[in-house]
Amino acid sequence: MERRQFLGSLAAASLIPRYAFAQNTPQRLLASVHRQQILPASYPDTEMWSFGSTFPGPLLRARQGDRLAIAVENALPQPTAVHWHGLRLDNAMDGVPGVTQQPIPVGATFDYEFALPDAGTYWYHSHAKSMEQIERGLYGPLIIDESDAPDVDQDITIVVDDIRLEQDGTITGFDNFHDLSHAGRIGNLWLANGQIDPAYPLKRGERVRIRLISAANARVFTLGVQGLEGWVVALDGMPLADPQALPDELVLAPAQRMDLIVDVTTDQNEAFLITFERDGGYAIAHFPVSGPAAAARSGRVILPPNPDYPIDLVQARTATLLIEGGAMGGMRAARVDGEQLDARSLAGRGLFWALNGIAGRPETPLLDLSLGESARIGMANNTAFPHAMHLHGMHFSDVLPDGSLGPLRDTLLLNPQETREIAFQAHNPGNWLFHCHMLAHHQAGMGTWIRVSA
Ligand code: C2O
Ligand code: CU
Repeated sequence: MERRQFLGSLAAASLIPRYAFAQNTPQRLLASVHRQQILPASYPDTEMWSFGSTFPGPLLRARQGDRLAIAVENALPQPTAVHWHGLRLDNAMDGVPGVTQQPIPVGATFDYEFALPDAGTYWYHSHAKSMEQIERGLYGPLIIDESDAPDVDQDITIVVDDIRLEQDGTITGFDNFHDLSHAGRIGNLWLANGQIDPAYPLKRGERVRIRLISAANARVFTLGVQGLEGWVVALDGMPLADPQALPDELVLAPAQRMDLIVDVTTDQNEAFLITFERDGGYAIAHFPVSGPAAAARSGRVILPPNPDYPIDLVQARTATLLIEGGAMGGMRAARVDGEQLDARSLAGRGLFWALNGIAGRPETPLLDLSLGESARIGMANNTAFPHAMHLHGMHFSDVLPDGSLGPLRDTLLLNPQETREIAFQAHNPGNWLFHCHMLAHHQAGMGTWIRVSA
């Protein structure tokens, strides 16, 4: 699909109704098929799979320290399960079929209920056939409010995505070997909260919290803001102890989040959220700016910290993770269920990637940890593609080249040929997935797991 076709239609974007967030947590979340206009109005609408009959699913919002109880009812044509991405929750509620629960059969309901120890910006998404189900729309934002939230005039959540749509509005072409063995399923249409370039009106001088969430299947977004100035205050839900002034480029890999607190400083009547592409920057959302300047605030905002689980780098158990495979990766063979297969037989099973020589989730965990133990994992991306490695159930820190610990994250981007090390305290008991969030890569072999025994 020709991108400029859509870029030409941006003038009409302010006519699109603003995405309305539900303010209350529904007790019941229906996963079902519905139709929604995703392409510009002159094109057909799209059959989406969604939560709450809206794409993205409703914004779920709760307070830090509360419990969240949600009954997910499956009215889809396939089994499903819901993962609450980034929450340090009870393992049984983690939503991973085959690891923490059986998939929710068609027509059945599963009751999720868990405590919320952390505040921040998270999201929920299907974890069953996720390459297909997330692309079809099964995701939504999840916000946990600080009991002591910073003072802002507006709190805006923007879920960015790139969807791959045919001209007739359909979503097709899953399981194609090119996506599985290359970068993954890259879309042809950028969306913010399910819309093409939506508008979020701002007042001059306002202070605004902007929560960015990437629900992209595989694209690594490089975003920027124009007309707003401030700080990055949290990554992957976790507050930064030392917020940095907003850089020109905000790299957001699949599943990553970034909280910004910005002041509306432009003297123009519009500010922008931009995606930088090879051929320039394009608005992915915009902010009409009006009014005389409100009394501007000053001073940096630091969010209150979430519970801390200190990492002992010296006593830590260590593991290494060699990431191999993909097109131009030269991987000759890998083990699958204990059997050594050559590249050709692997491809025959739709497998193209391996972690430590194993394609698909191994029988034994990468690390078998006792509760409270620290761990370090050195990762080497020996492939021609970027990967976004996500650990369930616990956040980790990047071990920086000088040996200090970087900010807590739950998803880390590794560029081609890059080597990184992460460290965490095994504070949450259970079996936790550790996989690439480029969903095609996970499906095609890039997933392992970690056990934390109480
Ligand atoms: Cu966002 Cu294994 O998931
Ligand atoms: Cu990957």
